[in-house]
Amino acid sequence: MADSVQRAVLTGIGGYLPETVVTNDEMSRRVDTSDQWIVERTGIRQRHFAAAHESASFMGASAARAALAMAGLPAESVGAIILATSTPDQAFPATAVHVQAALGAVNAFAFDLAAACSGFIYGLSVADAMIRAGQVQHVLVIGAEVYSRILDFSDRGTCVLFGDGAGAVLLSSRHVSVDGPGVLSTHLHADGRLADILYVDGAVGRPEASGFLRMNGREVFRHAVTLLAAAVSEALAANNLTAQDVDWLVPHQANRRIIDGVGRKLGLPPDRVVVTVDAHANTSAASIPLALAQAMADGRIKPGALVLLEALGGGLTWGSALLRI
Ligand code: COA
Repeated sequence: MADSVQRAVLTGIGGYLPETVVTNDEMSRRVDTSDQWIVERTGIRQRHFAAAHESASFMGASAARAALAMAGLPAESVGAIILATSTPDQAFPATAVHVQAALGAVNAFAFDLAAACSGFIYGLSVADAMIRAGQVQHVLVIGAEVYSRILDFSDRGTCVLFGDGAGAVLLSSRHVSVDGPGVLSTHLHADGRLADILYVDGAVGRPEASGFLRMNGREVFRHAVTLLAAAVSEALAANNLTAQDVDWLVPHQANRRIIDGVGRKLGLPPDRVVVTVDAHANTSAASIPLALAQAMADGRIKPGALVLLEALGGGLTWGSALLRI
């Protein structure tokens, strides 16, 4: 094919949510809050919290198995596993190697990626670059998070916002026509000067190992819509596309008001925006693949659809990606 290009094409996707669902009413029995406050401020109605055995690697492997099953490929065909998480099983080895062992993906190299809630977009970007360089044929990009383990339940402004879960995509190298499927472009950003508005206050290697999520919600909110709107405009401009060309926006699911704000700035009608924050809360690096998996499984996102992804998180880190299914 004269005008064919090599692209990272999504060939499989899957998600995993812990069995235990915690509603806002249940949260309000544990914390001084109410269903009304949480819904009005965030759109969140419930979240899933992991049981002891539902670690990042357990959930990530479950999501990855579903992605491989959809692609119809054996685990041995995977060349690399990139696992985005802020809540790894251990400081090392990487959670990704536990997933590799659980899957039997014996030919894959495997590493974790730390970019907080932007981790999936960062992972997608790294995988896309590895595939374009011809380094690997099939890459699993996984987001897996157990934020329930780092929530401070005495801080009602943060603990109601997050949930647990995992999502995974399999990207495969394919020669396709220019208007065919695959990752069109990714756009990554970071600003470490804003590290202190969203962070975890402990880590291996630090004397104080409390390890709770800390957030200045107002500051995060203030930056989110502006930075995300700029990132999605950047993705559209890079591909000579406009918002009218986008079939679906699949945003990081942090907060309904942030999602709506970006949609409004783009001029996208709400019925072209995938929202799962009501049911999942903010599952950090897992939220985009979980939302994408859901919208593909229920038939909203079909082959050929142009999908715009965006995320912002601790760092601050943020970014966007355009993907044709
Ligand atoms: N239930 C009830 N009341 C709560 C509450 C809760 N869970 N959390 C905070 N409040 C109270 C505060 O104590 C405060 O009361 P006061 O006025 O008596 O002091 C009041 O609600 C307003 O608090 P404030 O923090 O100013 O609320 P807000 O309107 O900024 O909303 C967030 C808080 C967290 C919902 C909002 O800032 C936000 O969505 N930020 C972005 C967070 C985010 O998405 N982070 C992840 C990005 S990846």
